[in-house]
Amino acid sequence: MKRHLILGIESSCDETGAAVYDSVNGLLSNELYSQVDLHAWHGGVIPELASRLHMEKIGIIVQTSLDKAGVTLQDIDTVAVTSKPGLPGALMIGVSFAKALAFAQNKKLIGVNHLEGHVFSACIEHTIPFPFLCLTVSGGHSSLYLVTDYGQYQSIGHTIDDAAGEAFDKIAKLMNLPYPGGPVIEKLAEQVNFQDFFNYTRGAMAGLNFSFSGLKTAILYDMVKRGAYDLATKTFLKPDDIEFQQQVASSLLVCMGDIFEKKLALALKEYPEIQAISFVGGVACNKYLRRKLQTFCEKKKIQLFYPSGKLCTDNAGMIAFVGAYKAQQDQYSELDLSIF
Ligand code: KG4
Ligand code: ZN
Repeated sequence: MKRHLILGIESSCDETGAAVYDSVNGLLSNELYSQVDLHAWHGGVIPELASRLHMEKIGIIVQTSLDKAGVTLQDIDTVAVTSKPGLPGALMIGVSFAKALAFAQNKKLIGVNHLEGHVFSACIEHTIPFPFLCLTVSGGHSSLYLVTDYGQYQSIGHTIDDAAGEAFDKIAKLMNLPYPGGPVIEKLAEQVNFQDFFNYTRGAMAGLNFSFSGLKTAILYDMVKRGAYDLATKTFLKPDDIEFQQQVASSLLVCMGDIFEKKLALALKEYPEIQAISFVGGVACNKYLRRKLQTFCEKKKIQLFYPSGKLCTDNAGMIAFVGAYKAQQDQYSELDLSIF
C-alpha cells in the first residue's frame, strides 16, 4: 500500500482538534484544545463562543499536530475535516480552514461525517471483526449502528429526544453540579459503590430506539417528591447534601447501564450475525459502563471494544482515520464541500 499522510481537523462542537494519520504507521499525533472549561462557566456550550475559540486556536493546533507527528505540511497528502453534523458556525471554521489549506497547498480534501468518526474510532487501536454493533453515546448523539465494513454502517436505533450524555449533563445541572455532568456523576456514583437507590424508570421505549427525556423528567419529579427540588423557583434544595447527590448520580448511572444492556441484548437477537460490540463517544469514557458492558459481552461470548479516553470524546484522530480509508477508496470531496 502506498504511504498516505492525512491531516485530520475537527471543530464540530467545543473541541478544536488536529491529528496526523499515516496509512502505514497509524496515528502519529492527536492534538486537542478543549474549550470545555470556558463553556462550563456558562453551564453548557455557547455556539458563538465555540466558533470564536476555534478561530483563535485552529492554526496553532494544526501546527502542533504536524510538529508532534514529525512532519511538515508539504508531507501531507490529504486534509480530512469534519463537515457535519455539528454547530454550523463551529463547523465552518474547520471546513474553511481545511479548504484554504487544500487550495493553497494543492492537497486533496475529504469531508467526514463526525458520527462516522465515532463509529470507527475503536478501529484505530483494535482490529474489530465485521459485522459489529456500535453503541455511540455522546452529548449530542445516542445511536446503535450495524457496521459491516469500513465506511459501511447503518443506524438501527437512535434517540428520539435527548442524548445519553445530554441526560447526564441536564441532571447534573438540576443539582447545580458542574458541566459536563457525565464525569461528575461517575465520581459521585463511585463513592457509593454504584448502588441503585431510587430505581428510576428504565423506559417503555420499544425496539432499538432510545428516549432519555422521560428519564430526566422522571428524576426531576422524583426529586420534587423527596423535597429536593422546588419547581416554582427552579431551585435545587439539597446543595449541601452530598449523600443525596451521590444517590441520584448512582441510581442514574445504574439505570443508564441497564438501558444500554437491554437495547444491546435486543440488537443481538435481531442481528445474530454480530461478531463484536464497540462502545464509543464521550459517555464511553465511563468505567462503570465499560465494566457492565464487558460482563454482558462475556455472557454473550462476544468481544467488547472501546477506544482509549482521548479517542472516545471528540477528537481529530478519528476524522483522520476515516479520511485514510476514504482516500484509499478514492472518495475525495470538492472545494465546494458543504456543512449541510
Ligand atoms: O463525544 P463528546 O466529547 O462530545 C459530543 O460529541 O457530544 O461527549 C461529551 C459527553 C458529555 O455529555 C459528557 O457529560 C459525557 O460525554 N461524558 C461522560 C463521561 N465523560 C464524558 N458521561 C459519563 N461518564 C463519563 N465519564
Ligand atoms: Zn462527538
